Amino acid sequence: MQRIKTYEKNIDAMLHGGFPKNSTILLSGPPGTGKTIFSLQTIFNNVKYSKNNCIYFTFEEKKTSLMEQWEQLFPNNKQEDLKNFEIISIGSEDISKDTITEIIDLLTLKKTSLVVIDSITTLSYVLPSKSSSHENMKHSLKNFLYLFITKLKSIENLTSICISQKEEKDSDVMARYLVDVIIDLEYNSFAGGNSRFISIKKMRRSSYDENIFPIQIVDNQGFKLIM
Ligand SMILES: Nc1ncnc2c1ncn2[C@@H]1O[C@H](COP(=O)(O)OP(=O)(O)OP(=O)(O)O)[C@@H](O)[C@H]1O
Ligand SMILES: [Mg+2]
Repeated sequence: MQRIKTYEKNIDAMLHGGFPKNSTILLSGPPGTGKTIFSLQTIFNNVKYSKNNCIYFTFEEKKTSLMEQWEQLFPNNKQEDLKNFEIISIGSEDISKDTITEIIDLLTLKKTSLVVIDSITTLSYVLPSKSSSHENMKHSLKNFLYLFITKLKSIENLTSICISQKEEKDSDVMARYLVDVIIDLEYNSFAGGNSRFISIKKMRRSSYDENIFPIQIVDNQGFKLIM
């Protein structure tokens, strides 16, 4: 099976080689666990080493703030490595009922191989409330997630990383059924130990390491799994 590597040696080992190509991945975790950094790093590495077309959609941060984050973490990497890469930032005021179609059309048109959606939580809260003022919000949230994830899965040769805020709400539970891969990031504050952890909860079509591993976010190195 073809794999999409993260190019972080220990995470690729945990994934038994990388994400299965064409899979839909849910990256779920509470605020500050490193979802954005992990996704940025994975997409940048893929642009750099595999030369594939990649797009990062953010509904939460400005493009400049993501680039600053990147430069701070990887000061030695060059802008010219980033051909074939686009960050598209859409503010919540600009999200409309056509946004999903526009995203899907662009991914298809650009023959994108890897996309990050940061985050489906923001998108799924803003969109249903705009497009169906009289419908039951919960129902339209489920509809939205079903439609969006199904459409992402239907695009040929596309691997998608969907970021989600972990919460005990229907939105995350629904997404967990639909996606092919679930990666959970967790935060634990206890004195003296590592505070962030990563685990794989499912990966269709592949075996994987079922352990929970500590992670660190380090200057010049980014998101690292500690074996
Ligand atoms: N240069 C750095 N060196 C070390 N740690 C850093 C650095 N930059 C960011 N961090 C850590 O990473 C955390 C943020 O990671 P990130 O933005 O990826 O989280 P997130 O899961 O996307 O959060 P949110 O859900 O709020 O978007 C910060 O809280 C900080 O602790
Ligand atoms: Mg984030």
